[in-house]
Amino acid sequence: MKIVVIGGTGLIGSKLVGNLRERGHDVLAAAPNTGVNTITREGLAEALNGADVVVDVANAPVWEDKAVLDFFETSGRNLLAAEAAAGVRHHIALSIVGSERLPDNGYFRAKVAQENLIKASGIPYTILRATQFFEFVGGIAQSATAGQEIRLSPALIQPIASDDVAEALADVAVALPVNGTIEIAGPEAIPLDELVRRFLRATEDQRKVLPDVHARYFGAVLDDQSLTPGDNPRIGAIRFEDWLGRQAAG
Ligand SMILES: NC(=O)c1ccc[n+]([C@@H]2O[C@H](COP(=O)([O-])OP(=O)(O)OC[C@H]3O[C@@H](n4cnc5c(N)ncnc54)[C@H](OP(=O)(O)O)[C@@H]3O)[C@@H](O)[C@H]2O)c1
Repeated sequence: MKIVVIGGTGLIGSKLVGNLRERGHDVLAAAPNTGVNTITREGLAEALNGADVVVDVANAPVWEDKAVLDFFETSGRNLLAAEAAAGVRHHIALSIVGSERLPDNGYFRAKVAQENLIKASGIPYTILRATQFFEFVGGIAQSATAGQEIRLSPALIQPIASDDVAEALADVAVALPVNGTIEIAGPEAIPLDELVRRFLRATEDQRKVLPDVHARYFGAVLDDQSLTPGDNPRIGAIRFEDWLGRQAAG
C-alpha cells in the first residue's frame, strides 16, 4: 500500500513514516524539503501518483491568526483537489481535541477550517484529534512568560507523547476510513499550571508558575472541558514523568 505523509519530515511525520515503513508499507515523506509543497502545489501531483492513503500532518510555518488560517485553508484545498484527481481512497488528518470549543484561539479556528474542508471533500476520511504533545509544554510555558513569572490556568489538560500519536496515526492509516473523528489523549489529566511546574522542575528552570483562572491559553480562557477529550478516547501509554525522565537521559 502506498501511503503519502504530508509533513513527513516534522515531529509527528518523521515518527509516522518510520512506524509505517517498519510495518512494511511503501511510504513517501512529503514536505517542501523533499520537493512537495501543498501551498505552491510543487511536486504534489507526482507525489500522489498511485497513492492509496494520505496522512496530513503538515504544520503552518507562522502561527499569526490570518497566516495560520490561510495556510490550513490553502494547503487543505490544494491537497484534497490533488487527492481527488489521484483517486486516493483514505485521507487522514491530525487535528486537536477541543478545537471548536475555543474560537478565541486563532490556531484552533484554522484547524476547524481544515476539518470542514475534509468533511466537505467527498473523499473517505478519518480525523484524529490529539491533545497537546508533551513536546509542546515548553512552548506553552514560553507563551505565558512575563519576566520570571508564568501565569497559567489551573484547568485540566491531558497531554500526550508524540510517539503515542504517531502509533495511533499508523493504526488509522492501515484501517478503513471511519468518515468521522477519533480522539486520543495522554494517560493523565493534570492542571495546566501544575504540568508546566513539573516540566520546569525537571529542566531545572527557575521561573515561577502562578495559577490564574483568567490567564488565557493562546487567547482563550479555559475550563476543565476545554482541552480534555470526550467519552472513550484512545489513551496513550507513555506517562509525562516517564517522558521527562527519557528527555533528561538524552
Ligand atoms: N503541537 C501539538 O500539541 C499538537 C496537538 C494536536 C495536533 N497537532 C497537529 O499536529 C500536526 C503536526 O505537528 P508537528 O508538531 O509534527 O509539526 P512540525 O514538526 O512543525 O512539522 C511540520 C511539517 O509540515 C511540513 N510543511 C510545512 N509547510 C508545508 C507545505 N507548504 N507543504 C507540505 N508540507 C509542509 C514541514 O516541512 P518542512 O520542514 O520542509 O518545512 C514539516 O514536515 C499539525 O497539523 C498540528 O496542528 C499538534
